[in-house]
Amino acid sequence: MAKLAINGGPKAITKSIGPDWPIRDDSDLQQLKEVLESGNWWRGGFEDPKQSKVGRFEEAFAKYQHAKHCLAVTNGTTALECGMKAAGVEAGDEVLVPALTFVASATAIALVNAVPVFVDVDPETYDIDPAAMEAAITDKTRAAVIVHNGGYPCDMDRILAIAKKHNLALIEDCAHAHGSEWKGRRVGAIGSLGTFSFQMGKTLTCGEGGAIVTDNDDLAEKAFSFHHIGRVPGRPFYEFHRVASNLRMTEWQGAILLSQLARLDAQLDLREANAKHLAAGLKKIPGVASIARDPRVTRWGFYYWNFHYRQDEFEGIPRDVFLKAVNAEGAPIGVGAHGQPIYQNPLFRSMNFGRTGCPVKCPLYGKPVDYAKTCCPTAERLHQTQALSIGHRYFLGGMEDMDLILSAIRKVRENCDELRRHCGQ
Ligand SMILES: Cc1ncc(COP(=O)(O)O)c(C=O)c1O
Repeated sequence: MAKLAINGGPKAITKSIGPDWPIRDDSDLQQLKEVLESGNWWRGGFEDPKQSKVGRFEEAFAKYQHAKHCLAVTNGTTALECGMKAAGVEAGDEVLVPALTFVASATAIALVNAVPVFVDVDPETYDIDPAAMEAAITDKTRAAVIVHNGGYPCDMDRILAIAKKHNLALIEDCAHAHGSEWKGRRVGAIGSLGTFSFQMGKTLTCGEGGAIVTDNDDLAEKAFSFHHIGRVPGRPFYEFHRVASNLRMTEWQGAILLSQLARLDAQLDLREANAKHLAAGLKKIPGVASIARDPRVTRWGFYYWNFHYRQDEFEGIPRDVFLKAVNAEGAPIGVGAHGQPIYQNPLFRSMNFGRTGCPVKCPLYGKPVDYAKTCCPTAERLHQTQALSIGHRYFLGGMEDMDLILSAIRKVRENCDELRRHCGQ
């Protein structure tokens, strides 16, 4: 008789894990009602914009992320574009970006007419590899978009030193990392500036939204201008100074973010406690392991919790076969680190940059680029064989949910022979 669910046996997990996302209650409704009744649905309708919902959220989120300034924008992709424009990234510049991330980290670079240069990642953390980053720097490199993948902070000590040595603007893509800390300092304003996403799946959400944080007054002022059609504070409303779009956040989004932010700390603490329990349980199961936590990562506010699969310690069962089996048991585990290396997307493989080929064929750049030839071997290996992850909402239930996930993994581990027969090995 089959024991494994993949072969028709009983499932290890028969209840749903974690609550519905996003969490919401009457406090969200109250915030929205206030906007509705005020009749002021955009931040510009306030005599003092700081009194708007968006303005109040910006103040609270800057404080939350240990930053001097916060600017709310329409989403995480436009936050990256706006941040790079503020940092002076222009046509002909190269910008470094890790191979493992969401595609927007790279497309945002092309959207400001610069050239993305893909950099390999660290096999333990899934974040950009500082040595590979430094090796990729050329006389055209203007900036680096580093990504705290899954919310696990990059090695900011090494990366800051590299950025300083080579005079690079350092943009922290914090779309996964609300509340994460490096040596007690929250991510975002450790580098030149940081960007956040508040898209529906993120740990702080208003459906769609984004933000830029920075300690730098000049960058904050430029970002404000680039998000406000080129206006400059203190100048007439119909006077424009830059080629810029409208990236303003609405009061509806600001309102929801205010109520959601009030829950964030308790949610982060609950996720961390559950993740610790899961990590302790994984230690007892050969073939799966949590990230070896760097003590400088003083808080890990994760969007998804990355961990590792080790085929050689899991009786040779390939990662994807394990995933099918554990999913059949009801465990919500997926491929980690945001999936395939982003340069493997058709956009890059087929060099689909439109009629002119800009920005990669921009005469201001002048170097040949063929992304079909790009290869970051560690990222490719991790994607195919090692990376696992569990989404943040599954950590918002009780520890018994972690025990259920562990029981599903353990069950698969204990029935490798049956699994091997199933996949004809
Ligand atoms: C690492 C990363 N950067 C940027 C973004 C873009 O954010 P948005 O979807 O809000 O545009 C995302 C979205 O998932 C992301 O994961």
